[in-house]
Amino acid sequence: MNEQPDNRTELLKQIRDEVWNFKESPLYAERVRNRAYPVIGEGSHHAKVMFIGEAPGRTEAATGRPFAGAAGKLLDGLLASVGIARPDVYITNVVKDRPPQNRDPLPEEIALYAPFLDRQIKIIQPKIIVLLGRHSMAAILEKFGLDAMIGPISRLHGTVLDAEAPYGKITIMPMYHPAAALYNPELKKDLLVDFQSLKKLVE
Ligand code: URA
Repeated sequence: MNEQPDNRTELLKQIRDEVWNFKESPLYAERVRNRAYPVIGEGSHHAKVMFIGEAPGRTEAATGRPFAGAAGKLLDGLLASVGIARPDVYITNVVKDRPPQNRDPLPEEIALYAPFLDRQIKIIQPKIIVLLGRHSMAAILEKFGLDAMIGPISRLHGTVLDAEAPYGKITIMPMYHPAAALYNPELKKDLLVDFQSLKKLVE
């Protein structure tokens, strides 16, 4: 075996502890009041592919796991459709606590949690980042200096974008949010096609 020992798991645990105690967030009090969990992320700490959603919903906040509810089932099906095992990827969100009534995350919430996501990306060093939904797309494209690319997700989904991460070149692919396909089944067809493109990138 030629595995280099590394401290990824330790560094990710530090992030978990900090988010657990993130009293500066306006979403913290709500989390505690609801006896809910923050959702840090889950999957391989050496994942080649990282999926970034928007924020936890009810099931995620009740379990502490990303994409654990209906949208997560759809995501599981999409992964299975191209033979990618969920434990082999890393799944997280831009915002780690559930916004009340599942409203969209506010720009200030996205900004507040951004340093955690930046660190997760630097620690895991994914080669491919899949952005699930328009909020994730806008936040991450901006993060990577690709602001000029930002446009409607109906145009950008499935597009392969080159970006420079602190650890080297990466590929970013925006996709529709799986929850959108729950309301509009037509979008599931697009997601299935985009997952085929993702599979080709992974190979
Ligand atoms: N929607 C998201 O964006 N993230 C989750 O973890 C669940 C639903």
